[in-house]
Amino acid sequence: MVLLIIFMIFGAANALVDDGYLGCYEDRPDAHLFKNSVSSTVNECKGICQRNFYRYALIRTKNNCWCTNFLGNVLSSTRSCAHVCDDCPSKENLSDVYATGVVLPGPPQDLKISNITNTSVFVSWREPESYVEIIAYEISAKVIHTFSRLSTSDFRFRFSNNTFSTQLNFLPCTKYNVSVLAISSHGKGNAVYQIIETLVGIPDYVPSTPTILKRSGKKMIVQLQSVMNNNGPTSAYQIAVVNEDMSQVLQTENLKSYSEAMDEGFAYYVTAEIPPQDIKRNFTIGDGRLYGGFVNAPLEPYAQYQVLLGIVSRHNNVSRIVWSNSTETHGEAAVNILPLPEPNEETPGLIIGLSVAIGLLSCLLIAGIIGFFILTRRVSNHRRRLTDNQELTMQGPIIEIENTGYVPEEEITPTNHYKNLKQQLWNIPQNLIKIEPTNSLGIGKFGRVNSGTLRKDKNFIPIAVYTISDKKLGVENKKAMLKELDILLRSKKHDNIQSLIGTCESPDTLFVILEYASMNLKDLLLGSRDALPGRFSNMQESQALDISVGVAKGMKHLESLQIVHKQLCARNILITNGFVPKISGYGLAQYCNRNMVPDYTRWTAAEVFRTQHYVSKCDVWSFAILLWEICVLGGTPYASVPNNEIPERVMRGLRLIQLRYISDDLYQLMLNCWQLDLDERPTFKDLVDALNVIIEDKLNVHLNFNLYPEFQYEQFYPDMELAARTVY
Ligand SMILES: *[C@@H]1O[C@H](CO)[C@@H](O)[C@H](O)[C@H]1NC(C)=O
Ligand SMILES: *[C@@H]1O[C@H](CO)[C@@H](O)[C@H](O)[C@H]1NC(C)=O
Ligand SMILES: *[C@@H]1O[C@H](CO)[C@@H](O)[C@H](O)[C@H]1NC(C)=O
Ligand SMILES: *[C@@H]1O[C@H](CO)[C@@H](O)[C@H](O)[C@H]1NC(C)=O
Ligand SMILES: *[C@@H]1O[C@H](CO)[C@@H](O)[C@H](O)[C@H]1NC(C)=O
Ligand SMILES: *[C@@H]1O[C@H](CO)[C@@H](O)[C@H](O)[C@H]1NC(C)=O
Ligand SMILES: *[C@@H]1O[C@H](CO)[C@@H](O)[C@H](O)[C@H]1NC(C)=O
Ligand SMILES: *[C@@H]1O[C@H](CO)[C@@H](O)[C@H](O)[C@H]1NC(C)=O
Repeated sequence: MVLLIIFMIFGAANALVDDGYLGCYEDRPDAHLFKNSVSSTVNECKGICQRNFYRYALIRTKNNCWCTNFLGNVLSSTRSCAHVCDDCPSKENLSDVYATGVVLPGPPQDLKISNITNTSVFVSWREPESYVEIIAYEISAKVIHTFSRLSTSDFRFRFSNNTFSTQLNFLPCTKYNVSVLAISSHGKGNAVYQIIETLVGIPDYVPSTPTILKRSGKKMIVQLQSVMNNNGPTSAYQIAVVNEDMSQVLQTENLKSYSEAMDEGFAYYVTAEIPPQDIKRNFTIGDGRLYGGFVNAPLEPYAQYQVLLGIVSRHNNVSRIVWSNSTETHGEAAVNILPLPEPNEETPGLIIGLSVAIGLLSCLLIAGIIGFFILTRRVSNHRRRLTDNQELTMQGPIIEIENTGYVPEEEITPTNHYKNLKQQLWNIPQNLIKIEPTNSLGIGKFGRVNSGTLRKDKNFIPIAVYTISDKKLGVENKKAMLKELDILLRSKKHDNIQSLIGTCESPDTLFVILEYASMNLKDLLLGSRDALPGRFSNMQESQALDISVGVAKGMKHLESLQIVHKQLCARNILITNGFVPKISGYGLAQYCNRNMVPDYTRWTAAEVFRTQHYVSKCDVWSFAILLWEICVLGGTPYASVPNNEIPERVMRGLRLIQLRYISDDLYQLMLNCWQLDLDERPTFKDLVDALNVIIEDKLNVHLNFNLYPEFQYEQFYPDMELAARTVY
């Protein structure tokens, strides 16, 4: 109690000598009070409140010092609280109030700096708590650190008193002290500030193109030049190479390390990253060492390379890079490039050689390494006159010509087509192709076939990828392969044909990319054997006939190109999602299950059993068998006859039977196709017309899948249509 009185006297005495004393006030419960310290003198308290831009200093009982801009109820304007209210119930809320003399606004509140980019920031704040009129706000930005040699003078901006946010444009990768203050007619108030740093910018100077000093074998020496950068630190330089022989268009955003580039099929990669101080030394590309985490892989000795230099600027996890132009294509700078080895001269006749560039890595997986299939051919002069004959090369199937014995096999030049058509054909960059190694579609004569996808204009197209390993093919097989590829090349694009999309080549592998659909007609037909009420197929008759005419149209196209299919059957027709049939299984597009190979005996024309000689009219026979297959929903032709008896009995006149649900007209069409005299058989052009007549005939029912009492499905015996694969 004694202590309290002493304190009170002390406080009152102070109040009396101080001019700023305003009296004893009861605090407003809602006042924003700024509490300073537990205990201080009146002058200390006033000083603290002044420095914090508060208008009033409050001394409470026990000398607590508070600051505020708002006054409560006045109890006395002359006497100190100690004298005013001896018997007040609570002295807690009473303060002796002193004016601090502050006439400047306080600091703006809630300063926020957001959306920091490489060139701008967004600043926002709130009005300070102030009793003086604010005439303006001032924002200043002092550069603390920058990489820029451009103007580094500090920024200072003024804004009207009703502006509370603004965007400021700054230099990249620069540290600023951004402060905001309010201005009254008496001057500037206290500032609030934040230290921020803009993001690293894209280097503002493009490096100059490296100079190739020397190229020999797997190495290349280049001279580089440093470059200025105002938009961030010069952290490193990167050197990249482009294998020109891959004819890919360089997209610098795809530049990656050597191994990543190989995996993803890019013809270009970053070969080294060097510190800025090393830029002055001549650099050797291809020495196999590691530079800044990049393998400086040996170059392919015979390939042409372009080189480019990038400047890398890194700061706070953000990395920016600018690339120079690459060295000129076949530029004069590229010296000492070894010539391609001359292929050895060989014996007369046409030699198709596939010489292989020496790869650095072997093609381990399907999506293997990049490179080129170098195809060369030479024709000895005395035979050239024959191959110059265009008629000859465009004539019917190669085997047919061989068999008729008019022209020796060597005279057919698949390479002609390959080279000619390669120009029309899409040479697909490997990075656009994704092969599904686990989804095998089967095995062809020259390698395996997998499903995959092709990226084309942002779409993913299902494809079949035929992987042909150059190493495993002998010369004879290469010739055979090119002939079959040639057949596909010649068949061009047609809606009802499994088209060749393009090829993709790596040093030792040729990928042949074909259109693909996952359903085949045989499975579609068998799968439609599903009892709906009153029906024995869930397929519409019109759908079945549309597929038939689609196949006929595709065959008409092949017929017009004098391409003989030889293996036409439902199994070799792909069905797209839109029920469009696509003819497959001819030329290079022949592949089948790992364990089972189709046995085409039941589809083979009678005369072929005798002559082994195929012409388009043989396909017409097979087409009618296929038509019957469609009508009977995938049943096996001549299911009651064992395989070994088929040739004999067909030659003696065995024909497939008419079923009750196949009209006479439709069956007659089939019978016409099974005439022994080839001239009596219709052409595919005739068949398309005849099928269209049947489809458009609305008066008669030509195919009827309605159930009738004694109906039975035609039997399907897989083992009659498929044989176990012999050793492959
Ligand atoms: C004093 O202030 C306290 C809290 O600020 C409040 O609870 C109390 O009611 C006030 N007393 C008077 C008398 O105003
Ligand atoms: C910050 O940037 C985002 C997206 O860029 C934008 O939506 C937002 O309005 C910006 N904020 C300010 C305060 O400018
Ligand atoms: C802003 O300035 C105008 C005149 O310049 C004044 O009338 C107004 O009161 C000011 N506003 C504030 C919040 O000080
Ligand atoms: C930032 O600027 C304010 C006002 O201009 C100043 O008070 C403060 O000390 C500065 N801070 C730094 C870290 O420079
Ligand atoms: C800043 O970044 C943007 C977006 O990333 C970019 O478009 C712009 O070129 C950059 N500017 C500088 C100077 O780096
Ligand atoms: C780089 O090679 C050039 C040409 O051979 C030569 O003039 C230059 O001195 C070399 N520079 C260095 C640093 O070795
Ligand atoms: C940089 O990125 C890494 C991983 O993305 C992260 O762990 C690290 O905290 C980041 N550092 C900074 C300074 O942002
Ligand atoms: C890069 O190539 C373009 C066009 O080919 C040319 O306009 C530009 O000047 C070149 N830049 C340098 C730095 O050589």
